[in-house]
Amino acid sequence: MDYLNRRKLVDLVQAERELYVDSHPASRELYQRSDHLFARVPMTWMNKWAGGFPLGFSQAHGAVIEDLDGHELIDFALGDTAAFAGHSPAPLVEALQRRMGVRGGLSTMLPTEDAQWVAAELSRRFGLAKWSFSLSATDANRWLLRLVRLVTKRPKILVFSYSYHGSVDETFVVLDEHGQPRARPGNVAPSFNPTSTTRVVEFNDLDALRRELSHGDVAAVLSEPALTNIGIVLAEPGFFEGVRNVCDETGTLLILDETHTFSAGPGGATARFGLEPDAISIGKSLGGGVACGAYGMTAQLSTRVLRAVGEGADIIDVGGVGGTLAGNALSFAAMRAILDEVLTDESFVAMEELANVFRTDLRRAIASHEVPWSVSQLGARCEYRFSAPAPRNGGESLRSADPLLEDFLHLYGVNRGVLITPFHNMALMCPATTLEHVQRHAVLFNEALDVLTS
Ligand SMILES: Cc1ncc(COP(=O)(O)O)c(C=O)c1O
Repeated sequence: MDYLNRRKLVDLVQAERELYVDSHPASRELYQRSDHLFARVPMTWMNKWAGGFPLGFSQAHGAVIEDLDGHELIDFALGDTAAFAGHSPAPLVEALQRRMGVRGGLSTMLPTEDAQWVAAELSRRFGLAKWSFSLSATDANRWLLRLVRLVTKRPKILVFSYSYHGSVDETFVVLDEHGQPRARPGNVAPSFNPTSTTRVVEFNDLDALRRELSHGDVAAVLSEPALTNIGIVLAEPGFFEGVRNVCDETGTLLILDETHTFSAGPGGATARFGLEPDAISIGKSLGGGVACGAYGMTAQLSTRVLRAVGEGADIIDVGGVGGTLAGNALSFAAMRAILDEVLTDESFVAMEELANVFRTDLRRAIASHEVPWSVSQLGARCEYRFSAPAPRNGGESLRSADPLLEDFLHLYGVNRGVLITPFHNMALMCPATTLEHVQRHAVLFNEALDVLTS
């Protein structure tokens, strides 16, 4: 990025790192003491914080986290969407206490009343007739991929380059700089070459999609309604209508992963934009932080699955779909509370209004500092990228990344009480986010740009 003085940026990041280290002694001490945690954290992604060690936290309520050093942080990261409902909202706490302390029975492998309520509610919101449950979005995707291969009797799937759908082996395929498919760089010891299971094209490229699906060996396209894991990359007008048509012409199913795009509205991007998937996967935020995931199917697809099951596929034991703790009573108590009382239709209106303010503030700061950046929004979610216009696909978005600049902006926020997701530059509003929170972010973003461009 030649509009920035790189040498100065290196110094600025260094100064912010020092400030971070100095002002977070308790978090640093926890990290140093964690000798028996592999890589010193409970899950290795937690090392993705720019300060060299993650914040340890003591409590989190609504949109605010308190770290071990007593700093309060406005949380726009929200556990990378797992806490989209806000931290420990009262209806969730009550429902969990009722299930755990009063009724009991967290994992019985038996259905509860809550389960049918949640499935009916997801059906109302997303428009798909039949739902089944997992403990993560990853597993929802994994199991759906088996089911679509089962019914189509086709071996492959198709994903868009630099999409992310959880740690699902078949999905780690990207296009390299020559437009050739290859395993995603960094993919940890895959047991097979994912180009043998998966076709890959750029997002928003219908011609390439048509070409790749014309082989007739793809069971399903698996896509987010907008890419959200390589920055936000929005679908161009008409793109998903085109995807639906090409799928229909080639007998390919369409799975939409709404795990992050749920931010678009109560029925995700599917309801908001009138998309017509055969199946949907979702997870993370549904349980307000309690592990859960779900996949939905049209009535027609579920009939096809049941027919195949009648011909011998095993979905009630060790056939590769399902898991012991999936669909447990605690997850359902959580999902019911979240859907019924927290991530309600009304709450999405308020969250989106705040995201509109967030986006407007970002754009104003970017324009007044004359930096060539862009902002994308998907309902309650906003993201800035270091390129303008906004990237059209995963490859372009990848090339617009600037890890050092990201580190500076992340650290500048954390050191002054604001968190955005540690993965790229995304901010999410929750029902407890306030205008003051959004304004505080805007002040810091402007200050950071002043520092960068002065
Ligand atoms: C779009 C999408 N799908 C699926 C997943 C997997 O979610 P989990 O890690 O909770 O299984 C993620 C995680 O970031 C995601 O962004």
